[in-house]
Amino acid sequence: MNANVASLGFDLQKLQRAKKLAIDFVYIDKSEIAETGEYDLEGLFVRLNRAIDGVGAKRILLDTPDALFAGLSNTAILRSELRRLFSWLKQKGVTTVITGERGAGTLTRHGLEEYVSDCVILMDHRVQDGAVTRRLRVLKYRGSTHGTNEYPFLIDRKGISILPVTSIGLSHVASVERVSSGIPALDKMLGGEGIYRGSSVLLTGTAGTGKTSMAAHFSDAACRRGERCLYFAFEESPDQIIRNMNSIGIDLNRWVRRKLLRIESIRPSAFGLEMHLVRMHSIVEQHRPQAVVIDPVTSLFPYGLARDAGSLVLRVVDFIKGTSATAFFTALGIGSDSQETAISISSLVDTWVLLRTVEVSGERNRVLYILKSRGMAHSNQVREFLLTDKGVRLREVYLGSGAVLTGSARVAREAEDRRDEVRRRQEDSRRETAVKASLAAVEARIAVLRAKQKTNERELAEIAEESALRRRALSSDREDLRRSRDG
Ligand SMILES: Nc1ncnc2c1ncn2[C@@H]1O[C@H](COP(=O)(O)OP(=O)(O)OP(=O)(O)O)[C@@H](O)[C@H]1O
Ligand SMILES: [Mg+2]
Repeated sequence: MNANVASLGFDLQKLQRAKKLAIDFVYIDKSEIAETGEYDLEGLFVRLNRAIDGVGAKRILLDTPDALFAGLSNTAILRSELRRLFSWLKQKGVTTVITGERGAGTLTRHGLEEYVSDCVILMDHRVQDGAVTRRLRVLKYRGSTHGTNEYPFLIDRKGISILPVTSIGLSHVASVERVSSGIPALDKMLGGEGIYRGSSVLLTGTAGTGKTSMAAHFSDAACRRGERCLYFAFEESPDQIIRNMNSIGIDLNRWVRRKLLRIESIRPSAFGLEMHLVRMHSIVEQHRPQAVVIDPVTSLFPYGLARDAGSLVLRVVDFIKGTSATAFFTALGIGSDSQETAISISSLVDTWVLLRTVEVSGERNRVLYILKSRGMAHSNQVREFLLTDKGVRLREVYLGSGAVLTGSARVAREAEDRRDEVRRRQEDSRRETAVKASLAAVEARIAVLRAKQKTNERELAEIAEESALRRRALSSDREDLRRSRDG
């Protein structure tokens, strides 16, 4: 037994040494019963009592007490002894787990235990699509509400878990190499170089925001680098994805043909969670991808992420990380913002990009921003992006006004700004003309004044000349007169 449970990670011997656990093997010889014809469990009670008191046990496991009654045909005695055992254990105040094999037509072989006990859990395993799935179901639990579904469970090195365990601990090798997200403008926002190889990206967004388109870019980029890429699609068939991505100018088909890209479409409801994981395991094993897309990871979890599914996402994320593939998960956000998805997955991924549609003046436009990206200085900007027939395009940040504008509002704003600019330019040229005109007028006046100055100067010269002439004429007249008198 020690050896058997050691493979589940339990060290019973250590617990025994620490006097926390007592193990007793009860063997009953059939011949004993046959000889006496009498049978009761008195001997067992004595042994149990000693063992319980020996370690101060609070819990007891009776592993298949059915064996005690092997070969006993008197069912009346059997039933009364079983009943006595149960009530004795209850009196003793210990919590007891009793295992029993399934009987024909009844849950247990004797059809009694299930009535006497407070809680009954049914476990079985069955073959489904060639894979074994273990399931358990709580049939009853007195005084408590309980889940009524069948839950898949897994037994592995870490014991039993109701959801599949693939955790390999936080020992992932961290690469310093950076790879493209498939969208150059987004790489620029991610510290200028893109994401780390082997890291995980979460892309959340509401319906139709462009998650699949971004995932296609990511896959396309990986294949261009010559990497094998595995695309798990939970909403569309491979053909649909290839057709739809053709619409935005991404040809995934050529990568499929070259066997670099493998698109695995699985209907989320096709199997239980465990089966999904088992399948994903085997596909990853076959394809050995360097890039993995799960689109959308939220589809895997029919109960929603709000409930304890966080641990489940962890397992998927961990499993993919363990393969050291670069991972790209899309998640459908519920409601206008993706807070619900956010809470459970965000801490598990390295880079978290949010897609949103914003409604401004009667239209919805797509914006994107990086909420976090471990180990790099990333942009804090909200960027508008467009889905075009040449793929996802990020628009340059509009810096014209205080707010981030998108779509028509942005176009309108840009036009308004252009009009303002034209108006300012017109105003400038009008003033320039006016000043120039006034300058010209001044110059004209100067010219007039200069002309006047010249005229005046000329007039002055003429006056001077005339008076000189007159003076000369006068003096020559006087000379003539004097000469005639003298004569
Ligand atoms: N050639 C194109 N030009 C512009 N927009 C396009 C073009 N092709 C597709 N689209 C837009 O892309 C949207 C779909 O994008 P995508 O499939 O990536 O979104 P999603 O977030 O994955 O959606 P869902 O939530 O349905 O999975 C379409 O609704 C359409 O508006
Ligand atoms: Mg999609």
